[in-house]
Amino acid sequence: MVHDVNGAIRNPPYRLVVGISGASGAIYGARVLDALKDLGVESHLVVSKAALLTLSQETDLSPADLTAKATVVHKMADVGATIASGSFKTLGMIVAPCSVKTMSEIATGVTSSLLTRAADVTLKERRPLVLMVRETPFHLGHLRTMTALTEMGAIIAPPLPAFYARPASILEMVDQSVGRSLDLFGLDWSAVRRWEGLK
Ligand SMILES: Cc1cc2nc3c(=O)[nH]c(=O)nc-3n(C[C@H](O)[C@H](O)[C@H](O)COP(=O)(O)O)c2cc1C
Repeated sequence: MVHDVNGAIRNPPYRLVVGISGASGAIYGARVLDALKDLGVESHLVVSKAALLTLSQETDLSPADLTAKATVVHKMADVGATIASGSFKTLGMIVAPCSVKTMSEIATGVTSSLLTRAADVTLKERRPLVLMVRETPFHLGHLRTMTALTEMGAIIAPPLPAFYARPASILEMVDQSVGRSLDLFGLDWSAVRRWEGLK
């Protein structure tokens, strides 16, 4: 619980910034938005052009279906948006999925879009920045970039399936990765299957 200068109780900011970039796996971003709705957390969405391409190739969701899942939708070029400023309080930011291009932009501080600006702001404010980086295989430059981002405080969380959860569908596999990434913000989504020891 947080008190303001007048002693009034102020709630923590129950809002998360969600970036969706053009790596394979637009469904991860869509399910993050669904999860946040389930959890009652405000979502601030920013989607890259390439992500709309992967969305159309990989899912039956239209751009309108995707944006309807978010509380607030920001335009990629709108660097004057709320989420471009550190004074706008959030729980942090997740990029799901995160392309190599977006990851590299964040790592270098080149913040030419709202997505990467919001990520840079998240880092400078020392809030959690979770990057669901999706590429394979990685070359040394990718690995060095991930190391640099980790040194800056970001969390690299590639969406890799957990087979101990015995997923029965692709959606269950996706939800496990999404839920484990949301764990990093202290958000506990009911779709996560947690390890309860050997049976
Ligand atoms: C179907 C499809 C799948 C792609 N998968 C990946 C991927 O898994 N990882 C990646 O880094 N880039 C991937 N790309 C390439 C990115 O979309 C491309 O580098 C783009 O410029 C990224 O821009 P953004 O980071 O602004 O979204 C893919 C592109 C397409 C069309």
